[in-house]
Amino acid sequence: MITIRLARSLDAPALAALAGTLGYPAEEAEMQARLERILGRDDQLVIVAETGATVGGWLTAHAFDTLASGFRVQLTGLVVSDRHRRLGIGRQLVNRAEAWAREIGATTVCVFSNVQRTESHEFYPALGYTHTKTEAAYRRILSDSSA
Ligand SMILES: CC(C)(COP(=O)(O)OP(=O)(O)OC[C@H]1O[C@@H](n2cnc3c(N)ncnc32)[C@H](O)[C@@H]1OP(=O)(O)O)[C@@H](O)C(=O)NCCC(=O)NCCS
Repeated sequence: MITIRLARSLDAPALAALAGTLGYPAEEAEMQARLERILGRDDQLVIVAETGATVGGWLTAHAFDTLASGFRVQLTGLVVSDRHRRLGIGRQLVNRAEAWAREIGATTVCVFSNVQRTESHEFYPALGYTHTKTEAAYRRILSDSSA
């Protein structure tokens, strides 16, 4: 049986382990600190899928206002453990995020996914998401003062 519930502080080790699967390895303490910053905020959603005593997946979403597109929800992280895939967990997590988006008055849910994540480009269209554009990602590390 799969249960979707809000994440809690004690989930940090499981979230950290799955973040590694997603390609973003994190120490448990770092994940704990990140989680503490997010939990309880009304513009952030952190949910997990419990299968028995195991966390089989997690999703994070962020609600924000933009001048260009209005109020929207962006899925900021989603991963299902390798051994729990194709059981409908990803779909249930996204469905819950969409329900939250409706509750808080957002009319759009969007997500950016690396082109290399081949399964996600099958997954999102299967859930009704359309590919709207292809973008390049830029980043500047602010502690780097050499530029
Ligand atoms: C993408 C991901 C979250 C999907 O999770 P999941 O729990 O396996 O997905 P679901 O079982 O809910 O799949 C729902 C539907 O999506 C489609 N789908 C999902 N994975 C697929 C795959 N590998 N190949 C083809 N279709 C797929 C299918 O239509 C599936 O329905 P079906 O199983 O009845 O055919 C999971 O593969 C994952 O964690 N991947 C690595 C991280 C990642 O890409 N995250 C998203 C980044 S934004």
